[in-house]
Amino acid sequence: MKIGVLTGGGDCPGLNPVIRAVVRRGMSEGYEFVRIKNGWKGLLENDILELNINTVAGILPKGGTILGTSRTNPYKKAGDLEKLKANYKTLGLDALIAIGGEDTLGVAAKLISDGITNVVGVPKTIDNDLSCTDYTFGFDTTINIAMECIDRLHTTAESHNRIMVVEVMGRHAGWIATEAGIAGGADIILIPEVPVDMDEVCAVIKKRHDRGKTFSIIVVAEGAQFKDKSLITKEEKLDAFGHVRLGGMGEILAQEIERRTGYETRVSVLGHIQRGGSPTAFDRVLGTRFGVKAVELVKDKKFGKMVALSGNKIIDVSIKDAVKELKTVDMDLYAIAKVFFG
Ligand code: F6P
Repeated sequence: MKIGVLTGGGDCPGLNPVIRAVVRRGMSEGYEFVRIKNGWKGLLENDILELNINTVAGILPKGGTILGTSRTNPYKKAGDLEKLKANYKTLGLDALIAIGGEDTLGVAAKLISDGITNVVGVPKTIDNDLSCTDYTFGFDTTINIAMECIDRLHTTAESHNRIMVVEVMGRHAGWIATEAGIAGGADIILIPEVPVDMDEVCAVIKKRHDRGKTFSIIVVAEGAQFKDKSLITKEEKLDAFGHVRLGGMGEILAQEIERRTGYETRVSVLGHIQRGGSPTAFDRVLGTRFGVKAVELVKDKKFGKMVALSGNKIIDVSIKDAVKELKTVDMDLYAIAKVFFG
């Protein structure tokens, strides 16, 4: 059995533990692995390398991905799909293990239904927005980094009597904002699932001031939207999957808070800092469990399946179902976050 392994989309802590687990589990079956570089781009350009026990030695604690990654969509440009098909054949691959989020696995689902490749999927994203799995690896590391940043910002907010706005990633789901916000004791958490009402935000800040709390920490997801649509004006850049490049919400929010309340308001955009560095123990273990299971799915020829976490069990689900719709924030969890607003 010859298996290609690729990572697509944004890099994410925990990718290397998955790659290591895939190779280590596959070795016991006598499988041969191929390192496809930079996601689907590597399969289009035949950019491949060897992948063996030595390649994966020492990578468990490393952030990012030793395979490289890209946001290449082989369904975008005419002729690319034929190239991919030909390369898959020439390489003599029996299967692919695709480690990625909604976009990478969306391509995987199409390749399977178009009869081009055999694929098993592994869910990756710091955004935790993939359906059919309770958690994706990478998310835990990200919320821990964001929590630490919020803790640090608390000291300056309190010392200087400032409002601190912290913008976190997460695309169109507010998981990072909600969980990092709860963990960091945010006074307000704003997510894409709930339109931002500036009157409510300012009322909460003023209420805090009235009870002597002359500082506030506001965590805002990059994908949050104002109720009042006139408040946002931004040039929209799209990636190969048609996604808008987000960012800038924190700045607009801070300006509006300062304008309405008169309180000094500063912004910190965590950006790629929250995606970098060594994975937490949780993400290393989850990545390892996912990697081992992915090889077992290939062994059982369960193509079209994605490994997933359900409670504390690793299961398999259909890739198609997993990419059908985004998993947005559970409103029961957001209701818990709201208990601490103000
Ligand atoms: O999907 C992961 C993610 O980090 C999102 O939270 C964010 O919107 C996006 O990727 C940023 O992508 P890039 O690194 O390509 O700008």
